[in-house]
Amino acid sequence: MCGIVAAVTQRNITNFLVESIKKLEYRGYDSSGLAIIDYKNNIIRIRCVGKVQELIKKVNKKKIFGNIGVAHTRWATHGKISKENTHPHISSNIIVVHNGIIENTSSLRLFLKKKGYIFYSDTDTEVIAHLLHWEQNKTKNTLKKVIQNTIERLHGNYSMVVIDRNNPSRLLAVRSKSPLVIGLGIEENFVASDQIALLNITKRFIYLEENDIAVITKKEINIFNKDNFIIKRQEILSNIEYKSVKKGKYRHFMEKEIYEQPQSIRNTLENRFRKNKIYFSELKLKDENFFYNTEHIQIVACGTSYNAAMVSRYWFESLANIPCDVEIASEFSSRKLAIRKNSLLITLSQSGETADTLSALRYSKKFGYLGNLTICNMENSSLVKESDCYILTKAGLEIGVASTKSFTTQLTVLLMLVAKIINFKQKNNDITKKIIKTLNILPTRIEEILKKNKLIKNLADKLVNKKNILFLGRGDEYPIAIEGALKLKEISYIHAEAYPAGELKHGPLAVIDKNTPIIIIAPKNTLLDKIKKNITEISSRGGVIYIFSNEDFDYEENVTVIKLPYVEELIAPMFYVIPLQLFAYYIALSKGKNIDQPRHLAKSVTV
Ligand code: F6R
Repeated sequence: MCGIVAAVTQRNITNFLVESIKKLEYRGYDSSGLAIIDYKNNIIRIRCVGKVQELIKKVNKKKIFGNIGVAHTRWATHGKISKENTHPHISSNIIVVHNGIIENTSSLRLFLKKKGYIFYSDTDTEVIAHLLHWEQNKTKNTLKKVIQNTIERLHGNYSMVVIDRNNPSRLLAVRSKSPLVIGLGIEENFVASDQIALLNITKRFIYLEENDIAVITKKEINIFNKDNFIIKRQEILSNIEYKSVKKGKYRHFMEKEIYEQPQSIRNTLENRFRKNKIYFSELKLKDENFFYNTEHIQIVACGTSYNAAMVSRYWFESLANIPCDVEIASEFSSRKLAIRKNSLLITLSQSGETADTLSALRYSKKFGYLGNLTICNMENSSLVKESDCYILTKAGLEIGVASTKSFTTQLTVLLMLVAKIINFKQKNNDITKKIIKTLNILPTRIEEILKKNKLIKNLADKLVNKKNILFLGRGDEYPIAIEGALKLKEISYIHAEAYPAGELKHGPLAVIDKNTPIIIIAPKNTLLDKIKKNITEISSRGGVIYIFSNEDFDYEENVTVIKLPYVEELIAPMFYVIPLQLFAYYIALSKGKNIDQPRHLAKSVTV
């Protein structure tokens, strides 16, 4: 949440800052701003509410020249969305942009007010700016020391970049909970919340670790750890292609990412099968012992990742015969746990930076889990760094706020993991062979269903004005129904809910009327007969039903079947989620919603 970009360069940085902050808009898009120290040593600050495009318009009207500056795109936490609350915040010569939440601002505000500081915003970031200024004036220390003293007084998360107009040759970057990466140029250096902001400039990156402070000039980078020792952090060469940051022929990143799924899944499967066994090159031999000893699996995740975990629970239990529990990360870490014997903790996340999931991982370490594994899309993320071991999903960059390809690639990895555990326990190799064979067919099956996009578009056109839509599924299609409802509410703002089809008669049937369409995921499988009974219960009460299935149904009034191609039962969840993603997309498209950046949301929820 919130995007930060900063640079100290040879050239004028104005265009770089606005172009780069635009690439981080997925992290927050309530308001944005920049501050540059110009050639006359003035601080030029421009801020505005709304999209980065508004900032670009404002910046283009001015001629600003400077070699050092910061930009920020905000996802509001402290204080409403307003120009005053937009970053950067300034206290005399000190400029700050910040990602995180400071919890003890009330007492600090009071303290600073008594010292004569005037506040122009409601933000915690302005508190940091004034506190830095106060500390600097009082101690006359270097900016690094000033920052070190100041953060000792802050409770909370404070990844930030600080510039001092009195010494405009350096910027200081501090990492606390939210990611910050340094981009290395030739006689110029950059900082950003995500490397994608810098990919058109450099491929060389250094990720800051927790509590690091970096002092960055054009020519030099010095990183200090929390004990104030200078420390060398590894330089990495990014393999992310700059072109993946562009929409290409698609209208939205979400649309592009939906259509990328066959290829993302191929990438996720590549080099992972050997002689009917599953091979994850990321895992070391000692990590594999976890699987050997695992008697229970506990998965924690949020949002779409949680829904993927819910699907996998059916697989772990029915295929590998391993008990599996799945919990929403924010709930997991707010209760006292009683853990099972030889339980493996798995965190599941696209970004690897989701604060709730990270807290859950940290919390789990107080208990006696066998070990922890993260399944993640971002190799340099905090979750990967803080976990005992990891497996990458290889979805590629996902920019649309609504997750799509990260969901199907997570499921792909989870199904491979089920097969790997079966391998380890040497139970039934036939199941592993079947999983491998079926996973190899999956990309083709998804290509087949993507060709049915017109069918889904027609349905979306029909239901676009509905106020409520229910989604039903049974077994491993129930979490798919939940994911379909999440996608719809997230990008179209239509109220949507999901239920296990058998649960309707226990209450929700009461809301059934002709204005509340019900979408039922009903692939041809062992549960189909049961779901047919549920369909009858609803249709006899006048419910309007749309069935997504590869089976023929013999219903009359009020029931429409959206006939989909054949798919193997094992991979049906990854297949049936595709029409639901498309359905949400087409509804939001007709409604003219901001599909890639839905209101109130942000891609990486680091608070
Ligand atoms: C929904 C969505 C969110 C994320 C959730 C977890 O489309 O994208 O629900 O799934 O915030 O994010 P990660 O997977 O990055 O931990």
